[in-house]
Amino acid sequence: MDEIKGKVCVTGAAGFLASWLIKRLLLSGYHVTGTVRDPGNEKKLAHLWRLEGAKERLRLVKADLMEEGSFDDAIMECHGVFHTASPVLTPSSDPKAEILEPAIEGTLNVLRSCKRNPSLKRVILTSSSSTVRARDDFDPNIPLDESSWSSVELCERLQIWYALSKTLAEKAAWEFCNENGIDLITVLPSFVIGPSLPSDLCSTASDVLGLLTGEVEKFQWHGRMGYVHIDDVALCHILVYEHESAGGRYLCSSTVLDNNELASFLAQRYPSLPIPKRFEQGRRLYYEFDTSKLKRLGFKFKSIQEMFDDYVASLVEQGHLSSFGLAIN
Ligand SMILES: NC(=O)c1ccc[n+]([C@@H]2O[C@H](COP(=O)([O-])OP(=O)(O)OC[C@H]3O[C@@H](n4cnc5c(N)ncnc54)[C@H](OP(=O)(O)O)[C@@H]3O)[C@@H](O)[C@H]2O)c1
Repeated sequence: MDEIKGKVCVTGAAGFLASWLIKRLLLSGYHVTGTVRDPGNEKKLAHLWRLEGAKERLRLVKADLMEEGSFDDAIMECHGVFHTASPVLTPSSDPKAEILEPAIEGTLNVLRSCKRNPSLKRVILTSSSSTVRARDDFDPNIPLDESSWSSVELCERLQIWYALSKTLAEKAAWEFCNENGIDLITVLPSFVIGPSLPSDLCSTASDVLGLLTGEVEKFQWHGRMGYVHIDDVALCHILVYEHESAGGRYLCSSTVLDNNELASFLAQRYPSLPIPKRFEQGRRLYYEFDTSKLKRLGFKFKSIQEMFDDYVASLVEQGHLSSFGLAIN
């Protein structure tokens, strides 16, 4: 462990990304308060208590994005707040209640608690590369960078609720923090790949398991997508929190691939898995991401090979691929 550091809060602590971020924060010496919706659910939180340093420096408290003031206790006295909690789902019937309000109003709720905390130094909001690329009016020869914003009109028209929720939440966060003098930095990860610490796979990790086990539908729709290792996303959050001169938005993405490129890479690398051979090509514009802003802080991304090797190894260990002859003996 590095030296003992200050107190930070991570919202949505039991989630896929937040769990890995907490692992990294504890390893680098922070005292972490994590918020969870259901502190009584021992099975859902067991992986957090197994983390190195958790018994000494982790505290879990109950908070819900939709309850005003719910984050006050968790955030009070923290120097840093990492706000990751946000619904990652496809709404079943009511997009406003299921995803838009928890993302947008929930973010403002967390930021109002930040404003009430005199110890606060900086807030890191986990946004998404979907706040940058959901638009149809850009030049495909120029990589998209942090100056790009997804089109709210396009997201509404095509009912891309997740991208809409993240775009409106990030915009609301910038407006609130600018008005209230809060030092905000946003991290915009692309599709996160890597081992899951929670025993139940989150929606994106189970989509990837689906792809590895022969499902076509979800990745058909993904078309072209950026990918990034979960450890890189966690390290990026900590880097921009600690780096004094960091500021603004940071795209966090290693490699952008078409789904056919991804499928042929995966089929070659894991020949015993029934990876789909080809996807129909939907109407998706070509794009690349320009991540030079993060790289200028000294950041280096792990490769697509490393992110999938680590993910597949963890799936094997957790028994998700035993029906394909991949199991730990
Ligand atoms: N996975 C990706 O590829 C990806 C890419 C870019 C950005 N992100 C962003 O990363 C963050 C974490 O996502 P993830 O992939 O780790 O998904 P996840 O495992 O589903 O985590 C989402 C977290 O949000 C919490 N949450 C949802 N609604 C809430 C509410 N009403 N009140 C309090 N907490 C609530 C969930 O709490 P419960 O545990 O109680 O359900 C969960 O801990 C999100 O902001 C997401 O948009 C993810």
